[in-house]
Amino acid sequence: MSGSYADPFAFCNESGNPSIDEVAAVDPSRRSLLRATFALGLGATPILQLLAGDVLAAPQLGTSQARAVGAPPLSFGRISSSSADAIRVPQGYTAVPFFRWGDPVGVSSQPAGEPAWKPDASNSAADQALQAGMHHDGMHYFSLAGATDAAPRGLLAVNHEYVDDGLLHLGGLTNWSAAKVAKAQAAVGVSVIEVALVKNGWEVIRPSRYARRVTATTPVRIGGPARGAALLKTAADPSAEVVLGTAANCAHGHTPWGTYLTCEENWSGLFSQPNELTAHERRYGLSERGGGYRWADFDTRFNASLNPNEPNRFGWVVEIDPFDPTAMPVKRTALGRFKHESATLSVGGDNRVAFYMGDDERFEYVYKFVCRDKWNPNNRSANRDLLDNGTLYVARFNKGGRGEWLPLVFGRGPLTPANGFANQAEVLVKTRQASDLLGATCMDRPEWTAVHPKTREVYCTLTNNTDRGLPHRPKADAANPRVNNRYGQIIRWREQGQDPTATQFAWDIFILAGDGDTAVANRTGNIKGNLFAAPDGIWFDAQSRLWIQTDVSTNVLNRDEYGIFGNNQMLVADVVTGECKRFLTGPAGCEITGITSTPDGRHLFINIQHPGETPGERSDPEKPQAVSAWPDGQQGGRPRSTTIVIRKDDGGIVGT
Ligand code: FEO
Ligand code: CA
Ligand code: CA
Repeated sequence: MSGSYADPFAFCNESGNPSIDEVAAVDPSRRSLLRATFALGLGATPILQLLAGDVLAAPQLGTSQARAVGAPPLSFGRISSSSADAIRVPQGYTAVPFFRWGDPVGVSSQPAGEPAWKPDASNSAADQALQAGMHHDGMHYFSLAGATDAAPRGLLAVNHEYVDDGLLHLGGLTNWSAAKVAKAQAAVGVSVIEVALVKNGWEVIRPSRYARRVTATTPVRIGGPARGAALLKTAADPSAEVVLGTAANCAHGHTPWGTYLTCEENWSGLFSQPNELTAHERRYGLSERGGGYRWADFDTRFNASLNPNEPNRFGWVVEIDPFDPTAMPVKRTALGRFKHESATLSVGGDNRVAFYMGDDERFEYVYKFVCRDKWNPNNRSANRDLLDNGTLYVARFNKGGRGEWLPLVFGRGPLTPANGFANQAEVLVKTRQASDLLGATCMDRPEWTAVHPKTREVYCTLTNNTDRGLPHRPKADAANPRVNNRYGQIIRWREQGQDPTATQFAWDIFILAGDGDTAVANRTGNIKGNLFAAPDGIWFDAQSRLWIQTDVSTNVLNRDEYGIFGNNQMLVADVVTGECKRFLTGPAGCEITGITSTPDGRHLFINIQHPGETPGERSDPEKPQAVSAWPDGQQGGRPRSTTIVIRKDDGGIVGT
């Protein structure tokens, strides 16, 4: 999403951890304290070496691996930026919309094609619970047994991040009702659909025994250390074992054992807290009005003064088995609670696995979760609860291109009862506060992470942060080098020994996005090739091409700057040369997000989110096509978030 009305009152990390050098500048004694704190539980020697400036030579990420690990040359024809209300791709490619908000997912209890989409928004909540939700975001393609490159067939798990009440309901927010709240709750969550390449192209298979919707009211089991914790108990669930629903599902991940991870991001906007905020609520961005969704008007579960622990049941990574529609999703609390973007897999040589995660808010942190146990490739059920045990780390990016992963473990360092943490469950529910104490690095809105398929280097989009450098906010630092950072950057790191479980890493900045205007230093950037801003989605294909998707918002840029970049876009980068080539431009008012492909790379799926959106506002229900009529055209009634499939006309690999 564009960081707009969904959570307009969200607090950023108000204190903001200063860099250790900033601390030293004002209080040398505190630096000593921090040295001691960091040394606890981290192995004192390397940490103190880093603090003393005894660092290794600056890493040469990306280039160190030479062409052997680079992508094949990017030979497609770059396209220009665009303001057209259309999808544009290079010559020789075709993009086809095929799974739009309101399209039936094809559950087996329904006749094929039912319940049908009604372009005047008159579908009921019950209809919506069987149709694609709104505002598609992260997604993953899972091949089905028996599928071949010639006859691909699989399951797509697709996130639905949030709703635009102006488009979703007859009359929008007027005559607000329980039925409208129910429809909104049915329009978020996840769709699982069966898809196949048939004679005329890709189709959603209806009915399908795999098809399902997970919504804001679907029972979801709580797993991991916070299961049963006092902070998650409510009157409706006094044992803290089952939450109703997942919501604010932004980016995603997948596991090597074939499950989907959906990440709860701007969930705080769904709650209303009319009482004075606690420090904990403020740290997580609760507010009196939330994001203006008004769910609490008719569903008191979302009134945090009546149900103060209900917000603690959101902000997690949720695991879904797409192959079993009867399996209850599970909130994996071991992975921490924050405003999750992606949970990106990296598999070590010994089958130990790690997941990289961003907390997308200004001055929040980058995280990694390392499973305690190895995954078992020969016994799927043995991996069923692998995500319930492991270590959550938060990243510190030191000067000099070195970094470290700080463990969020109860009893280690400052994470003790004396500092307000009673147990590991509390460390996880209050992940942000725990990370504050550890001295993690405050980042410029961490969005997606991507892992290079050959080198295991990790790339992370830091989409923008116009508060960087404001009074009482963190200053620029090595990893977040620009004040008033309007355009964002992509940072990358390499774990020590290329081991995803390592606690030390080397990092550098891969790209500073910019407008190319050398007269304005903090906006210039260093992009080689086509200009872009606000990188958000990021993904490596199997041939090591890095795909970058943008979420430029006119909330952040003025109209003149917006014109430089045009509508949101998708580019391909070569991480060895740094070259960026524009591959796709989206329709008016959209964000480009979500990306996955068939295993052979010949069918690329991406999502077009919120075509027609005016940042900061809901759509006008009387003029739903004021900005965009994509994808259905004027007869379609209203713009719709949509999954599209991109193919090369000669049948080749997409991106070549
Ligand atoms: Fe939903 Fe951070 O994007
Ligand atoms: Ca975004
Ligand atoms: Ca995002």
